[in-house]
Amino acid sequence: MNEPIRLDGRVALVTGAGRGLGRAHALELAARGAKVLVNDLGCGLFGDGEDPSVAEAVVSEIETAGGEAASNALAIEKPENAEAIVEHAVERFGRLDIVVNNAGFLRRRPFADHTPEMVDDILAVHVKGSYFISQAAFAVMEQQRYGRFIFTASPGGTRGNPWVTAYGAAKAGIIGLAQCVALAGEPHNITANVISPFAATRMGDAMETKSPQEEIGEHAELLADVLDPRHASAAVIYLASEGCALNHTILTVGGGRVALSAMIIGDGWQMPDGALLTPEAVRDHLPEVLDLSKGTNPTSSDQEGSAFLKPAIKAAMAGHESENRSS
Ligand SMILES: NC(=O)c1ccc[n+]([C@@H]2O[C@H](COP(=O)([O-])OP(=O)(O)OC[C@H]3O[C@@H](n4cnc5c(N)ncnc54)[C@H](O)[C@@H]3O)[C@@H](O)[C@H]2O)c1
Repeated sequence: MNEPIRLDGRVALVTGAGRGLGRAHALELAARGAKVLVNDLGCGLFGDGEDPSVAEAVVSEIETAGGEAASNALAIEKPENAEAIVEHAVERFGRLDIVVNNAGFLRRRPFADHTPEMVDDILAVHVKGSYFISQAAFAVMEQQRYGRFIFTASPGGTRGNPWVTAYGAAKAGIIGLAQCVALAGEPHNITANVISPFAATRMGDAMETKSPQEEIGEHAELLADVLDPRHASAAVIYLASEGCALNHTILTVGGGRVALSAMIIGDGWQMPDGALLTPEAVRDHLPEVLDLSKGTNPTSSDQEGSAFLKPAIKAAMAGHESENRSS
């Protein structure tokens, strides 16, 4: 248990690894012994432009520290690019064990001001980018019978933020994707987990989130330490390690703190005797409907369906029996 986590012999791909969180993940993966493909388009905060030197600079940092890495500047959201990025990792390093889906950009503006193009761009980079990279990598991992996916969600997607509607939708979409990949990977020793980070990066700053500033008050100089992206990288390293048995989880991480974030379903309220649910019953039983004290966190749609519908089937059977008795 006291052994440090090592990733020697492992090959990792980190998308958007030229800056911010991705850069911190790539540096730590390499420091722990993994060979890293540093992918980054080198675009602006809003997805504009490109600059291959952004990924190259991180490769230099890794090499200077004695690690092994290669750079790739393709945009992740095109399926042919995603294929090429995964091929690059495999051709260069011989396998692919770890994929950190991290690249992305932001649009922060009122709901009404999101144009269809902005919505397309945001959904493309986050959802399609993570999708196509994972699909290409999955084929390699399936053959290896080993793989570790780490997806990047956001509190904007798990909990909502009125200024980032497209981004929030994309980040929640990534969770759905990760949950499906987690189940598809189970028979092949492939896991998929999600981090939902808080970090001081150009994107974190552009979010203009009030909460940390309000909490920290006059100790603003502490914010850079509290929101150091390396806190999030620690969760990434653990989720990327062979010894990590977690699958299908979401970890919120930041400021030296890490916690399970879950979509809990309550025990709910059941209409008796198989009768048709009415709007009035929903209204009149709201306390039971909203009660999370017996909440669970199902690990697949099948599991939720079985647990949720069991009482409904029992109620329907009870209704059917009493009908039979009275007829
Ligand atoms: N910083 C936070 O507090 C925070 C919170 C929640 C989620 N996130 C998520 O973490 C991830 C990293 O964000 P960050 O804060 O480090 O931002 P960042 O802007 O510092 O870094 C993102 C990197 O992704 C690259 N990138 C963008 N589009 C790309 C594309 N199409 N192909 C390849 N590379 C591309 C950019 O060039 C950039 O270097 C993002 O998915 C973001 O949504 C960040």
